[in-house]
Amino acid sequence: MIKKCIFPVGGYGTRFLPATKALAKEMLPIVNKPLVQYGVEEALSAGLTEVGFITGRGKRAIADHFDISYELEHQISGTGKEQYLDSIRKVMKGCIFSFTRQAEMKGLGHAILTGRTLTGMEPFGVVLADDLCLQEDNTQANVLEQMVKVFNQFRCSIVAVMEVPEDEIHKYGVIKGEELKDGLYKVSDMVEKPSKEEAPSNLAIIGRYILTPDIFSIIEKTPPGKGGEIQLTDALLQQAKDGCVIAYKFKGNRFDCGSVEGFVEATNYVYENLYLKGLA
Ligand code: G1P
Repeated sequence: MIKKCIFPVGGYGTRFLPATKALAKEMLPIVNKPLVQYGVEEALSAGLTEVGFITGRGKRAIADHFDISYELEHQISGTGKEQYLDSIRKVMKGCIFSFTRQAEMKGLGHAILTGRTLTGMEPFGVVLADDLCLQEDNTQANVLEQMVKVFNQFRCSIVAVMEVPEDEIHKYGVIKGEELKDGLYKVSDMVEKPSKEEAPSNLAIIGRYILTPDIFSIIEKTPPGKGGEIQLTDALLQQAKDGCVIAYKFKGNRFDCGSVEGFVEATNYVYENLYLKGLA
């Protein structure tokens, strides 16, 4: 069973400056909840209760968010305002949190490698909190839950993919694969942020992964790739060549909250579909 989930949260969030000068981008709220909490709630629902953050300088608010604020608790205890803490209390009760710091930002692959001390030699989930994934309703399995099912079938690394328009493909890791059955592909190629001419397909990786622990020794041998960074995509391609990586076309909505447009779109969606209905 997969119990662990890693959240690389060391990045700078330059697209949201000046808001992110002193504030972790993962703490930006979508309506009334920080982005990172949506990701942790997704992990918890999928049964991944051991949550590890790969943090960086200026990210202490994330650790504080998943801890008790005694002063606040004392102030609002017994008042109607206490209900606003329900969702974070639920997450804190359900999960155990660990933190490690990535001293230098050398890419997603490097961040995952830094998380090795938190995962040990077990398969684990990875959530990039910028990618907010929401289901139409609570009866649908969330993206990580869907991926856990796929992992249980194939027992190898799984990446979540979605079709994106040609003019957006350069923002993503892109896969090429043989379709095994509807929405499941055995990966044969993977390119990090290709031009539209280089892209092997229109299937882009989004920020949800399940990784088997052999990925660590592969990352150690992975040279810097696109942008001079150690890319998880390059390590996954090696893993696919050595054995197997499955790409899974997930069901549900995904918002790119790393961009201002996606962030606003997610805010409107949550406000209309969850907040106004009393579900947020
Ligand atoms: C990362 C990955 C990329 C993936 C994307 C999903 O890129 O490197 O392969 O498609 O996340 O959001 P980033 O957006 O962090 O540059």
